[in-house]
Amino acid sequence: MKLTVVGTGYVGLVTGACLAEVGNDVLCLDLDAAKIATLEAGGIPIYEPGLEEMVQRNVAAGRLSFTTQVERAVAFGDVQFIAVGTPPDEDGSADLRHVLAAAKNIGQHMTGFKLVVDKSTVPVGTADKVRETIAQTLRERGAAHEFAVASNPEFLKEGAAVEDFMRPDRIVIGTDSERATQILRELYAPFQRNHERLVLMDIRSAELTKYAANAMLATRISFMNEMANLAEVLGADIEQVRKGIGADPRIGYHFLYAGCGYGGSCFPKDVRALRHTAQEGGVPLRVLEAVDTANAAQKQVLVSKVVARLGEDLAGKRFAMWGLAFKPGTDDMREAPSTEVLQALWARGASVVAHDPSAMAEARRIHGERPDLTLVDDPMKALDGVDALLVLTEWKVFRSPNFEAMKAAMRQPLVFDGRNLFDPAKMRGLGFEYFPIGRGGV
Ligand SMILES: NC(=O)c1ccc[n+]([C@@H]2O[C@H](COP(=O)([O-])OP(=O)(O)OC[C@H]3O[C@@H](n4cnc5c(N)ncnc54)[C@H](O)[C@@H]3O)[C@@H](O)[C@H]2O)c1
Repeated sequence: MKLTVVGTGYVGLVTGACLAEVGNDVLCLDLDAAKIATLEAGGIPIYEPGLEEMVQRNVAAGRLSFTTQVERAVAFGDVQFIAVGTPPDEDGSADLRHVLAAAKNIGQHMTGFKLVVDKSTVPVGTADKVRETIAQTLRERGAAHEFAVASNPEFLKEGAAVEDFMRPDRIVIGTDSERATQILRELYAPFQRNHERLVLMDIRSAELTKYAANAMLATRISFMNEMANLAEVLGADIEQVRKGIGADPRIGYHFLYAGCGYGGSCFPKDVRALRHTAQEGGVPLRVLEAVDTANAAQKQVLVSKVVARLGEDLAGKRFAMWGLAFKPGTDDMREAPSTEVLQALWARGASVVAHDPSAMAEARRIHGERPDLTLVDDPMKALDGVDALLVLTEWKVFRSPNFEAMKAAMRQPLVFDGRNLFDPAKMRGLGFEYFPIGRGGV
């Protein structure tokens, strides 16, 4: 099939590359000329395992190309995927400016049937707005071309995006058009060879499914974080509690890790956008309000532990930070807990030496050059003469460090672990003062 993907960010680029990988001809459009220039020069604007090789392979095979030209992009694909950003507006609602601009462009330039598929995470009712925008633009042109609209929310995880797209748990499709169902069934056939993964539903349910999924996952995290805070006070160990409840198949083991708060480009904004939708609809979502509030508090938990141990005034103190990305496997720092911890330490006069396997360029872009932030290319180098180490992201490379070398490098062997990477008993045995999350009594 000939496909256009509008928006070449995390979702758009992964979608474009994976759909080209199974033999489709894909043109990716973005209005960000620098991003398209990078891709055309054989580079890649984001880090995602396996993506660079896949992009290069499909570009070389002539199945994947990039453009900034809207008219060319609309003419190219019989199917037009919308994968542009839906950032939070000032009131927390999803800003649909980019989605509706993409819809308008399609209405402006289409000359025959188009299936318009929304992959961006959008509030319930957006497909109707997309449909109306295209219809209105066609009316203004005096044109009468057929089109269908479908919602196909994306469930990929950053850090495993290619894997998730190639081997999805489910492919949710919301549409009221038989023609759209047939096209999408055919398009997704290569991704469900061993069993049916398509979950077909009406458009509004598909739109809500995406928000409900992220809200549920965020709820599990905030629930475990609050349990961890309680466990700490009661002298119980959240890791043992996690195993004890995870063994129940009604609960399961996934997404039960306590830590220093969730971040990223999805959970925070999607929880807030869903709350906003609910408010507009006059339906209280009390659980999600608490999920959001609990997460904001959890992002400060490491700072509270530092202050309890070292005092409110951290002037002249130096901290090592392992991890800046909001989770391992990505360079994405949107709403990352590291940003709040950095700001809290700087506000108290401390300086930080940080390492992240992927996100250091992004950290430099966000925080700029400043005397109280040094970025180093090796986790061990960050430890030289520091008063404490803070672990913010559970990258594999941090899991089995040389503890003796760590202790020798640090001014004092003090570790605040926001991701529970190490065994508390072992750490204490090695002579570390170790502060994990929710691990009382061990
Ligand atoms: N990142 C994730 O893990 C993830 C997962 C599932 C769903 N989503 C959802 O997918 C959507 C996209 O997310 P993302 O992380 O890929 O965003 P992103 O910010 O990485 O990329 C969006 C891209 O769209 C481009 N763009 C904006 N308006 C455009 C237009 N009119 N025409 C062409 N290009 C345009 C931007 O320049 C940008 O490159 C969001 O709704 C997000 O909530 C994201």
